Amino acid sequence: MSKVTVVGAGNVGATVANVLIFHEVADEVVMLDVKEGVSEGKAMDMNQTAQLLGFDTKVVGCTNDYSKTENSDVVVITSGIPRKPGMTREELIGVNAGIVKSVAQNILKHSPNAILVVISNPMDTMTYLALKSLGLPKNRVIGMGGALDSSRFKYFLSQALGCNANEVEGIVIGGHGDTTMIPLARLATYKGIPVSTLLSEEKLQEVVSSTMVGGATLTKLLGTSAWYAPGAAGAYVVESIIHDQKKMIPCSVYLEGEYGESDLCIGVPVILGKNGIEKIVELNLNAVEKEAFAKSAAAVHNTNAALKAVGAL
Ligand code: LAC
Repeated sequence: MSKVTVVGAGNVGATVANVLIFHEVADEVVMLDVKEGVSEGKAMDMNQTAQLLGFDTKVVGCTNDYSKTENSDVVVITSGIPRKPGMTREELIGVNAGIVKSVAQNILKHSPNAILVVISNPMDTMTYLALKSLGLPKNRVIGMGGALDSSRFKYFLSQALGCNANEVEGIVIGGHGDTTMIPLARLATYKGIPVSTLLSEEKLQEVVSSTMVGGATLTKLLGTSAWYAPGAAGAYVVESIIHDQKKMIPCSVYLEGEYGESDLCIGVPVILGKNGIEKIVELNLNAVEKEAFAKSAAAVHNTNAALKAVGAL
């Protein structure tokens, strides 16, 4: 029996749940939200697609009833407010820190062994907050950002190459912020061929820039934060854990010296399996990439410092 809880049944949370049930990743999915009736309604709506789409996973909705989340193997936290056009993810910290902390504490009371996947923004800082405030081992707290950013990177690469996005490989490391993420163009490939031999330096830089502001571009178009790719990325992370797939996925994880950084959660490639983070993969970065990573880490540390200012840590 595997059970996944998704906290927050807004656009992103509901999409995580929808992808999880459609792919039959877990036996049971619970959605919990603070808004009366919303997760119950979305769960009923999703359950009514089972016969049309041919899946068996049940989804249960509840309003703030953490007893329903009991003994979850994985809990995805999407709670908090999304950004509006023109806002940075970092500006959400004041509101979201309190929400994420209390959600994480409630979850742990009912699922003491759960692995947490954090999506709420600012994602690296919310992951750090969950880890620090709960005192969990670092393998059990994972921020989703790099999975999403890497998927956007592969999308923009495939657009530039005019090829199938499934045949492109690319990794984004660093913070999940418009100026902090680092799409590793040097390591990106199309069927094993370095994309740097297929695209001009100028085109590659355009792809990198589009990736970095990928979330902001969608926020401007939609009037709120994106949800299909963020939701699918959350479900992708959960699947690698629940099915012990041992996939290498860039995620925000706690570093203790890896990549020359410590005491923060930031995006690096990790192996995800039944124990959560099973290994941090240390890429051999060149001098420019190392410098970008150090700068990104400094920015994430800076945002983390605000947790103290808002009284969350
Ligand atoms: C994004 C939000 C979810 O990047 O951070 O779309």
